[in-house]
Amino acid sequence: MRKPVIAANWKMYKTVSESRKFVKEILPACESFTGVEMILCPTFLSLAHMSQDLQGTPVKLGAQNLFWEKEGAYTGEVSPYLLSELGVTYGIIGHSERRGHFGETDTQVNNKVKAALSFNLKPVVCVGESLGQREQGVTTKIIENQLEQGLSGLDSTAAANITIAYEPIWAIGTGRSASAEDAREVIAFIRQWVSRKFSPGISKSMPILYGGSVNPDNIGQFLEQEEIDGALIGGASLKEDAFIKMVTVANNIKKL
Ligand code: 13P
Repeated sequence: MRKPVIAANWKMYKTVSESRKFVKEILPACESFTGVEMILCPTFLSLAHMSQDLQGTPVKLGAQNLFWEKEGAYTGEVSPYLLSELGVTYGIIGHSERRGHFGETDTQVNNKVKAALSFNLKPVVCVGESLGQREQGVTTKIIENQLEQGLSGLDSTAAANITIAYEPIWAIGTGRSASAEDAREVIAFIRQWVSRKFSPGISKSMPILYGGSVNPDNIGQFLEQEEIDGALIGGASLKEDAFIKMVTVANNIKKL
């Protein structure tokens, strides 16, 4: 049985003090939850502070991006080596905003996945199609390409530490989420791909999340789907009460 995952991607929001205030407010409610994996992905600036604030709690930290080299003359970049000292558990890789605004390619995604794993960071690999691609009926082809290239050269041991997030680009920040059935269908396709590529066992245990306009009102619909293990949430994860509501739904919906 897979544990549901609620991952908050704060993108370029929240100062360090706002991030720390959020943690202070959610911890009393979240500390007793054992049936859900809770992950906060703040900006790089807040990671060191939040790492201290979250010590000894069940809430995990994730980075929103990382670079593939260990260290060197790479102005502006942050490596998994540097992140690992802070107790960062996860790293979001290949988010569509990084692909779209910063030209990140599947090859770079692959390099980042390998680098993250080599420093014991768990990659949360994002895949998803544009509206045009969905309308052309090539969604699964696009997802398959992203997976083939992004996860190329990995063995089953590596794959066992990977989480995949299906985030249709047209559903991100638009208030227009995919239907639970659309999300389920693509996630089932991803799970079959993982089974073929790695093994049925890996496919059974791999967390596969949905992301795109998830909020406290619609999260239940997604988590009720057997195939969907949780959500990667942007806008709605910025508010303490909304985050607590969504984590509560996840904690109650699928008991271990
Ligand atoms: P929204 O929840 O704001 O649509 O963002 C989703 C997302 O991009 C999470 O990574």
